[in-house]
Amino acid sequence: VSKELQAMYDAHELLRKFYHHLLVNTKEGQHALEYLLGRGFTRESIDKFQIGYSLNSWDFVYKFLAKRDFLPEWMEKAGLIIKRERDGTYFDRFRDRIMFPIFDRHGNTIAFSGRSLGLDEPKYLNSPETAIFNKSKILYNYHLAKPSIKKMQHAILFEGFADCIAAQRSGVENGIATMGTSLTDEHISLLRQSSQSVTICYDSDKAGIEAAFRAGNHLNDAGFQIKIAMMSDGMDPDEYIKKNGPEKFRNEVLGASLTWMAFKFLYFRRGKNLQIEGERLAYIEVIIKEISKLTKAVEKDHYLRQLAAEFSLSLDALNQQQKQIFFAEK
Ligand code: CTP
Ligand code: MN
Ligand code: MN
Ligand code: MN
Ligand code: MN
Repeated sequence: VSKELQAMYDAHELLRKFYHHLLVNTKEGQHALEYLLGRGFTRESIDKFQIGYSLNSWDFVYKFLAKRDFLPEWMEKAGLIIKRERDGTYFDRFRDRIMFPIFDRHGNTIAFSGRSLGLDEPKYLNSPETAIFNKSKILYNYHLAKPSIKKMQHAILFEGFADCIAAQRSGVENGIATMGTSLTDEHISLLRQSSQSVTICYDSDKAGIEAAFRAGNHLNDAGFQIKIAMMSDGMDPDEYIKKNGPEKFRNEVLGASLTWMAFKFLYFRRGKNLQIEGERLAYIEVIIKEISKLTKAVEKDHYLRQLAAEFSLSLDALNQQQKQIFFAEK
């Protein structure tokens, strides 16, 4: 690699260690540490994920790096400092935030995501895209989770860092997360190298359910086996674990994951009043369409029977309509 790239890697490595030191060993980081422990993060997970804290200073990182002969121009390109238009001086990108290092698949630190402690916006501030960091290619925790994913031939996909970390604390070693982006083709290719079976465990709020539907379709089209895990009351996995504990999360959330089709039955039903004839018929039609996309005859039969039973319809009629749709779309 070029000197510039090497300097970017080195600076990230150095800062990862320094941010972590600030969080766990210093008075300046104490409030951040208390915040994390209060949220249920443990010392072990803080170490394992190398979580840190960035000082409430405009130029601490700038000076820290300059003192060690890192060129400011390169550090700006690495996304660690920002240049002021006005006078060409630099300031730190991350200030007074909880720092989550982002690792590539080899374990190199290539970026950071900084969470604000209070209500400061944005809640998470990410490194920009750089020569060493491309958000749409990175799955958080993939470097640690990969051996388990391979061994279990299964991955659990989360929406956020906190969820991934809380799950790991609960004994889930095969968890990964996207970084605030939707699941890309690059993410899917990366994942495919270890397994083709995924449980999507996104937040159970409206945004999370919509995102799970999109990610599920994407993975399904890519030939993956999919399950969907959901929590009650719109919670996210981290909140659920804090409230109900690890066993319940493993048994009643992950253990009760829905099949992709069962999830779609629920998904298309949301916001509909099935007592109303028109809405009921529209729902049935959408579901028949979904069933017609299935490739296994036994599965088709299973879900058509389920639909027939629920709405007191004749299986013959459902079969007929399913075939019509199937052939119309060929
Ligand atoms: N995210 C982001 N920028 C934001 C908000 C979210 O990049 N302003 C990304 C983060 O990677 C975050 C994920 O989207 O982990 C999911 O967002 P959200 O559910 O809002 O956050 P949580 O992971 O629940 O974070 P926390 O529990 O710390 O509030
Ligand atoms: Mn440590
Ligand atoms: Mn969310
Ligand atoms: Mn969330
Ligand atoms: Mn959360």
